[in-house]
Amino acid sequence: MGNEKPIGIFDSGIGGLSVFSELIKLIPGENYIYFGDTLNLPYGNKTKDELIRITKNIFDFFESKKVKAVVMACNTTSAVTYGYLKDKYEFKIYPVVQSVSKSIADKNYNRVGVFATAATINSHAYKKEINIYNPKTSVFEIACPEWVNIVENQLQNEEESINNIRKHLNEMLPNNVEKIILGCTHYPYLMNILSKYADSSLFINPAKAFSEYIVSDLKRDNLLNNKRTCEPKFYVSSNPEHFKSASGLFYKINDVEEISPEKVLY
Ligand code: DGL
Repeated sequence: MGNEKPIGIFDSGIGGLSVFSELIKLIPGENYIYFGDTLNLPYGNKTKDELIRITKNIFDFFESKKVKAVVMACNTTSAVTYGYLKDKYEFKIYPVVQSVSKSIADKNYNRVGVFATAATINSHAYKKEINIYNPKTSVFEIACPEWVNIVENQLQNEEESINNIRKHLNEMLPNNVEKIILGCTHYPYLMNILSKYADSSLFINPAKAFSEYIVSDLKRDNLLNNKRTCEPKFYVSSNPEHFKSASGLFYKINDVEEISPEKVLY
């Protein structure tokens, strides 16, 4: 009976809230612990060894909190570290890239783009995973290393940021892709800008399909809870005030009144 145990969810900063806000809509009765690893942000330019060490620390933290599952909202760690750590813990682990690729492959697209961090793009995780289920889909991958900083520091309306976003879009569009996966949790926050230069229906935010996958898997294993016993808890590894103000600007999460994270871990 692990049903009342919490669900852990993490990312390098506020980005994972784009997943959390979808998940809590579907299963509001769960006890949630969100961890934003603001001290180590950005993840996207770190080495595999650094990312494994970071992910392991976070998994150990969640283990100490006796979670029943960990949601790797972070594409970068899902792409780079999941394979190394997946069998080392008792709780269930949901990596975003591996969890959503089948639903994307099942759409039978001929040409799909991916915008993601450099580490995710260099791992080719989306391409590999989608092609497992559908070898016919051509996957075009472009790293957008500046976008995490743009979101975390709310620079999305600066001219330099807009030019950068347009530059990557202009690199992608000649590939004639039918969809572009926003393969980093921070990127859906840029939809206002992206949709000025391309149709918003072009973009896939994996958060919804990911949350649906998690719910169906927890249900299958009889691990769903239907009675939340405490408010979601938020933790960060540095600068809780920044997290609080940045997160408030982007998301109103169900009935969560205010995000006031506690600093832990490092
Ligand atoms: N938002 C994370 C991801 O989905 C990591 C971004 C970063 O810290 O570089 O990949």
